[in-house]
Amino acid sequence: MKRIAVLTSGGDAPGMNACIRSVVRYAIYNGITVYGVERGYNGLVNNELRVMDRRSVAGIVQRGGTILKTARCPEFNTIEGQREASRVISENGIDGLVVIGGDGSMKGARDLAINFGVPTVTIPGTIDNDLGYTDYTLGFDTAVNTVVNAINNIRDTMTSHERVSIIEVMGRHCGDIALYAGLAGGAETILVPEVPVDMDRLCESLKQGKAKGKTSDIIVLAEGVAKADVVKAQIKEKVDISVWTTVLGHLQRGGAPTMQDRVLAARMGVRAVELLIKGQFNRSVGIKDNKIIDMDIIEALSVKREFNNELYNIANVLSL
Ligand code: ADP
Ligand code: F6P
Repeated sequence: MKRIAVLTSGGDAPGMNACIRSVVRYAIYNGITVYGVERGYNGLVNNELRVMDRRSVAGIVQRGGTILKTARCPEFNTIEGQREASRVISENGIDGLVVIGGDGSMKGARDLAINFGVPTVTIPGTIDNDLGYTDYTLGFDTAVNTVVNAINNIRDTMTSHERVSIIEVMGRHCGDIALYAGLAGGAETILVPEVPVDMDRLCESLKQGKAKGKTSDIIVLAEGVAKADVVKAQIKEKVDISVWTTVLGHLQRGGAPTMQDRVLAARMGVRAVELLIKGQFNRSVGIKDNKIIDMDIIEALSVKREFNNELYNIANVLSL
């Protein structure tokens, strides 16, 4: 293993920079030349690669986003796009590729490996925490902490005015950001795509809230359920109350990574390089029970994500 390349793909996530730093510095430490690929798979198709030295990743461990830029690359979904990418990889003499991204990016890496024999290792980088084979993805912890801070701030003003608020959070089809942030922020209600919404029960609890002396009511809504305005309209059909909505949007995808995400990034980056050095290709790095693991990429993609019902039940009981 003489030359490797690293790219970030799909939505950016806090901790991607810390992970690039880990891959670059651990590879250089082991005598490997590292190329950074710009703009995800676009950079492979368009041959946008640059050599990265130790200084090129200085001062980024604390920065959100990704210095390599990220993008979605429709061309790469085609066999022609993948062929072009593999040609660029072999022309640059690259022996292994590290892909940091979500499930779409993993599928791209799988296709490069299977269709064109490119040795790949993937690292889960997405705020969504929607991959079944790993307990956590890079960026999830930071995004949840950002949402918790937003809940705290919104709670202050909602309490002062005795209001009901819906806070819509990201996560695509996964409710983990809503679940963890809702529990940590003491939300009265958490709505996730994994659990059917009982609108009658929600409206009843809003009515009872006032009777119980609640001065605010926070509903954390995962975007995979519905838009905040839709849920607001459904509530107003059944209860005569004012409801405010906040869509946190990209606010929750930026910002300095937490200690958890920085440490996870460092550990996963090192494992990815170790796998390439050992010739263990086409694997996905993850974390289970606080141990770094790796798994065949096809197997990793096939693991179904389990929703954490235990946490969901705890959150419900504690908010009664
Ligand atoms: P994420 O990696 O965060 O899930 P996307 O789903 O947008 O983000 O995927 C990022 C990129 O990965 C896509 O723009 C595309 O280039 C590539 N990709 C996604 N799905 C596939 C697929 N099924 N086959 C090949 N490449 C894919
Ligand atoms: O996958 C990360 C994510 O932030 C999702 O939570 C969200 O649905 C999506 O990306 C938004 O993508 P974009 O920034 O392209 O609108």
